[in-house]
Amino acid sequence: MKKLKLIFLIVGCWFTYIAFINDTNKPVALPANSQPSGDTAIGYQYLTTGDYLKSGIPYKMFLLAFGKNKRNYLGRDGFNEDISHDFTAIKAPNGELVVAPNCMQCHAQVFEDKLYMGLGNTFIDFSIDKPVPKIANLLFSTLNTVDKKKYEASKNFFQAGKALSGNLTTAVRGVNAADHLAGILASHRDPVTFKWSNEPMLKMSENVVPTDVPAWWLLKKKNAMFYNGFGRGDFSRFLMASNLLTVTDTTEAREVYSHFNNVLAYIQSIEPPKFPKTVDEELASQGKALFNNNCSKCHGTYGEEETYPNLLIPASIIRTDSALYVANYSSPEVIEWFNKSWFTAGQNPAQLVPFKGYIAPPLDGIWITAPYLHNGSVPTLEGVINSKLRPAYWSRNFDKPEYDYDNPGWKHEVRADAKGKNVYNTTLNGYGNYGHYFGDKLSDAERKAVVEYLKTL
Ligand code: HEC
Ligand code: HEC
Repeated sequence: MKKLKLIFLIVGCWFTYIAFINDTNKPVALPANSQPSGDTAIGYQYLTTGDYLKSGIPYKMFLLAFGKNKRNYLGRDGFNEDISHDFTAIKAPNGELVVAPNCMQCHAQVFEDKLYMGLGNTFIDFSIDKPVPKIANLLFSTLNTVDKKKYEASKNFFQAGKALSGNLTTAVRGVNAADHLAGILASHRDPVTFKWSNEPMLKMSENVVPTDVPAWWLLKKKNAMFYNGFGRGDFSRFLMASNLLTVTDTTEAREVYSHFNNVLAYIQSIEPPKFPKTVDEELASQGKALFNNNCSKCHGTYGEEETYPNLLIPASIIRTDSALYVANYSSPEVIEWFNKSWFTAGQNPAQLVPFKGYIAPPLDGIWITAPYLHNGSVPTLEGVINSKLRPAYWSRNFDKPEYDYDNPGWKHEVRADAKGKNVYNTTLNGYGNYGHYFGDKLSDAERKAVVEYLKTL
């Protein structure tokens, strides 16, 4: 009898313990971790001119298709002078000159005719996912017969292009499909050797979950990467993940990886842009007090006594659109792929640790990063703290974008329905604009003060 009691006691304790560690109703603090150190200037050089992708479109073919770019925003020279900031001319391993997309496709944005490195590109258009045009495929197959060397240098790029083509379509313009892109690349590669297979090897949901792109200048404060906070361990491993697009083998991956401590150092050195207009100092200081009482327990404090608590906020508290974190549970194959892959081997491993909720991000430079929330569903800062101000359907002018400085965010039109790809439709799964109700209890005057303060971060 005594023995049975003891067993019950042990089992009871065990269940209490499990319940405790699985308690998803409380914010979870992300543990601090150490990251590799590197050289900022070398990292910038590699990021903007380096061959982290070693396959691409033959240089002349690229110029023919895209034309010469007149705005050399990065001030690059040589072959890069004529191509836009989001592509890099590189020598493929066989010496052929090719052009490959770079990180700035998604992580830099032209804002009022200036390029901001690290600002998420909210102009990207995945809504017209162009299945690699037949003509491109045709050109590529002819390359095989007319120019074997160029064919070799472009092969990996085109094979990935074929696998991705038609599979990354988002419902609206301005959101990003990179998470799905990464999943598809994983599904075509052996996790340990990175060997490519034309047939996908993982079961994956076809649902393309849209996201915004977090600003790079926030990373220096974070103990985990991505909206879900699931990127743990050595950040430079995640930073190099784009290499999966064209990598040949793990010898190449190791070589590319050896540069990414420097890229990480560069990313961690970026400072948020300062709000360029005047701020009402008195109103902002009232806002600061309100912020410190209502918001800082999740978002930290700013100014002289800078703190950042690094919290994951569970779904039951944040209540924003769940599709992004749900995808990690409904397609666990991709997480499993990563956690047994090359990325997790060796001295400084990375790991994916999913969570049912989202990280409370630092708010540095928040004035410039509209639209807001992890899926970019809210066009204005004020809307984040007043849920009544979030339009169900809204559009902005992608050709002549206008920013509102008084009430930071994109000038936009509220629509009656979701006609066209330029209208953000918050009624779709993954595109929801609900949740984050923490500012609703404030008065209009208090919210105005908080927004004024947010401009100063
Ligand atoms: C096709 C678009 C795309 C490209 C290309 C791309 N990224 Fe990203 N990146 C994203 C998106 C989207 C996220 C956010 C995903 C999420 O959190 O679920 C992200 C997240 C990140 C983060 C995490 C930031 C944070 O605060 O958690 C870093 C750092 C990063 N990317 C670096 C890079 C680097 C370095 C490259 C180039 C080698 C690169 N990315 C290429 C779209 C892209
Ligand atoms: C319980 C924690 C918590 C509190 C309290 C909180 N937030 Fe947040 N906040 C979050 C989380 C988590 C997110 C990310 C949600 C998402 O993207 O789905 C977020 C997102 C935001 C964003 C959008 C960030 C971006 O880049 O899109 C802003 C702005 C913001 N919060 C401001 C505030 C302000 C102002 C207050 C106080 C009135 C506040 N928050 C209170 C947890 C919190």
